[in-house]
Amino acid sequence: MHAPLDPKPVILTGDRTTGPLHLGHYVGSLRNRLVLQSTHRQFLLLADLQALTDNAHDPDKVRRNVLEVALDYLAVGIEPTKTSICVQSALPALAELTMLYMNFVSVARLERNPTIKDEIRARGFGRDIPAGFLCYPVAQAADITGFKATIVPVGEDQAPLIEQTNEIVRRVNHQAGRAVLVEAEALIPKVGRLPGIDGKGKMSKSQGNALLLSASPDEIKRAVHLMYTDPNHLRVSDPGTVEGHVVFTYLDAFDEDEQAVADLKAQYRRGGLGDKVVKARLEALLQDLLAPIRERRAALARDPDSVLDVLRDGTAKARAITRATLEEVREGLGIFRLS
Ligand code: TRP
Repeated sequence: MHAPLDPKPVILTGDRTTGPLHLGHYVGSLRNRLVLQSTHRQFLLLADLQALTDNAHDPDKVRRNVLEVALDYLAVGIEPTKTSICVQSALPALAELTMLYMNFVSVARLERNPTIKDEIRARGFGRDIPAGFLCYPVAQAADITGFKATIVPVGEDQAPLIEQTNEIVRRVNHQAGRAVLVEAEALIPKVGRLPGIDGKGKMSKSQGNALLLSASPDEIKRAVHLMYTDPNHLRVSDPGTVEGHVVFTYLDAFDEDEQAVADLKAQYRRGGLGDKVVKARLEALLQDLLAPIRERRAALARDPDSVLDVLRDGTAKARAITRATLEEVREGLGIFRLS
């Protein structure tokens, strides 16, 4: 008898549908997803319910951006034949898993989650944290485990969420007395998180420091022009600092010619290299990177039905898998079965 073929390991990641994706998403996880879709069984979740946890007052935005993020996925090269793109709110099994997992997490543990702590501070919730927001890590655990994903390609800010997911996995398995769920591993890119063009913290649309994947040539030009450099580098001949210099940080993330970038950095440090030259190099690179993405996106946007078909198909596959997991968890936890 032949040994059964190793099934491909499962990958699940997602994005909140709060706005179109930007270069930070590209470096943070899209690039990994593009590579991995050939070797893994990949699911991408349009996390509209998670987006609602801090956007309950603006459901229109969340709904509209389901299609926008889907367009971004397809435009960068996510292939529906390799990756299933699915809509979170169309997967009720995930909500039910969340409900069950909620009993395996304490409020204190949720409040200690570093990602949540940062986000609560950034959003100025004070004591008025929506319960849904505080609990979204539990829902994210449901997303990940619902697909039995073992690899989660995300930015480094998401690592505490994967850790919390694995705690839930262990507790549920302990309660069930067997390995119903599998632990997952965060796959974090080496390049670290991409700063915004102003150099202040991470790239974020709400901070106004983002460069969208759908940016026009003029927007790209303008963004590079505005990038934070070394404020003490006044004359071309002055020695400069490359640390914190956004243009160099972006070259590190996008320029494949590492030697050329190292040479430019050395020259900048010594003095004798103007920001104009470095910016021109980066702009050319970003124009080349984004032009085909923008064109594909525009073509797809003219045919929204074909995109919806992709979502229907991906969501149907996701529904089958998440339902099966829910059944196993219900069984494992001994939930009443009304037959
Ligand atoms: N929290 C992720 C973000 O803000 C989005 C997300 C939702 C996610 N569910 C997920 C990421 C499951 C990875 C796995 O970008």
